[in-house]
Amino acid sequence: FGSLATKVERNPSFSSLNSDDLSYFKGVLGEKNVVQDEDRLETANIDWMHKYKGFSKLLLLPRNTEEVSKILEYCNSRRLAVVPQGGNTGLVGGSVPVFDEVIINVGSMNKIIAFDKVSGILVCEAGCILENLISYLDNQGFVMPLDLGAKGSCQIGGNVSTNAGGLRFVRYGSLHGNVLGLEAVLANGDVLDMLGTLRKDNTGYDLKHLFIGSEGSLGIVTKVSILTPPKLSSVNIAFLACEDYLSCQKLLSEAKRKLGEILSAFEFLDSHAMDLVLNHLEGVRNPLSSAVHNFYLLIETTGSDESYDKEKLEAFLLHSMESGLISDGVLAQDINQASSFWRIREGVPEALMRAGPVYKYDLSLPVEKMYSLVEEMRARLGQSANVVGYGHLGDGNLHLNVSAPRYDDTILAQIEPYVYEWTSKHRGSISAEHGLGLMKANEIFYSKSHGTVQLMASIKKLLDPNGILNPYKVLPSLPPLLQLS
Ligand code: FAD
Ligand code: MLT
Ligand code: ZN
Repeated sequence: FGSLATKVERNPSFSSLNSDDLSYFKGVLGEKNVVQDEDRLETANIDWMHKYKGFSKLLLLPRNTEEVSKILEYCNSRRLAVVPQGGNTGLVGGSVPVFDEVIINVGSMNKIIAFDKVSGILVCEAGCILENLISYLDNQGFVMPLDLGAKGSCQIGGNVSTNAGGLRFVRYGSLHGNVLGLEAVLANGDVLDMLGTLRKDNTGYDLKHLFIGSEGSLGIVTKVSILTPPKLSSVNIAFLACEDYLSCQKLLSEAKRKLGEILSAFEFLDSHAMDLVLNHLEGVRNPLSSAVHNFYLLIETTGSDESYDKEKLEAFLLHSMESGLISDGVLAQDINQASSFWRIREGVPEALMRAGPVYKYDLSLPVEKMYSLVEEMRARLGQSANVVGYGHLGDGNLHLNVSAPRYDDTILAQIEPYVYEWTSKHRGSISAEHGLGLMKANEIFYSKSHGTVQLMASIKKLLDPNGILNPYKVLPSLPPLLQLS
């Protein structure tokens, strides 16, 4: 645990909890929403990867915005540091305390407030679980523009706060486009109502964007409004094999050109990722009968005309087969087969977890350069670790994971800063979709200029002058650059 946590020191300006604090919280939230139970705290103190561990003694479960406001106002006046937590599925150590921060989880705020069937605009509380929103919308004949493997646990507030990307990004784009409004509570308890439901609104600075992707460092998101596209009748999924990375890349260009408006996912995994899934997840098998391949792709199309869409996809696949870009492939024949294809791709993080300690990197890189990094890392690490590449190829987002027998500083020194320097040299981003959290707060300069980070720190100081919201995360702790008074 927490080799990273030892790199930061507890900010001495923060207070420690006392019995008056507990009485206050119980008065506002009621006894049962002030959680001190050791088992529940153990779960809330540890992240999904079991890599980061904090030592919080308190988990607060507010039921409405007013309660969030009251507890934040109190924490701010007492200088009690807090960590907003959603489904705790974050992958950069942002959702768990580093020391004794109070954990605030809005999971009880899980109501759908309104759904407009004409515009497809959904307004809901931030604690709604993503999968529940997906099912709700499905019943209404709409889809969530966001889908990801952690959907069963993650909350929409957590998704918005991390600006999660996921599996449908290639079609519907970023939450910066799909979130139309939100409500957030600032550190001092002020409630900012930006819960607009308009597609267009150019009345000055669009401040909601500050909260999308700020990882709980500027406020607690309590409500969101999201634009959701209609559910279309024809969905097709192909599971394909390519023998080299250049073919994957060419296939992506072809898919964008030939499938055009119906393309809704373009995901890839290499043979190392596939082996992990086959070896560590029960009931998963390779849908391609012919032996082993170097790369696997999952291509999904979504459209409104069954025969036209299928014809289009089949023609694309036939042409790609004839031109030698794909060496094998299968089209899902029914919904069960379709979900078994998705299980393979979505199961990679879980399989990696089961395989043991993992160093995770989530990079935006030019598609043509992306896999060279995986190969270089493989050469650097030799037999000491298993280097795995997968991700959202359609968005230029590589998940480079190093699965190791143990967390080991010698292995880490082989990976970092090499990965970050490589990414920066190729003008990529060191965090495509997972955020910076604790893991990469001090690495921000690989992707952002000093001036930009300085302005970010000024905004943080303005919105959270005492720095109580998710301390040690997102912004670097490096003095003296950020010592703004
Ligand atoms: P948490 O993990 O609890 O928190 C994440 C961050 O948001 C923390 O900094 C926390 O402080 C903050 N936060 C949470 N709730 C709030 C709130 N209400 N207000 C303010 N701040 C808040 N991510 C992707 O982008 N794409 C993927 O495809 C993807 N797939 C994943 C698959 C698996 C199996 C797993 C385990 C994770 C995956 N992730 C992915 C990462 C993660 O699920 C997402 O980042 C998700 O959006 C986090 O939501 P959460 O509710 O679990 O938030
Ligand atoms: C994914 O795309 O599977 C997620 O972002 C999780 C991960 O990177 O492991
Ligand atoms: Zn991802």
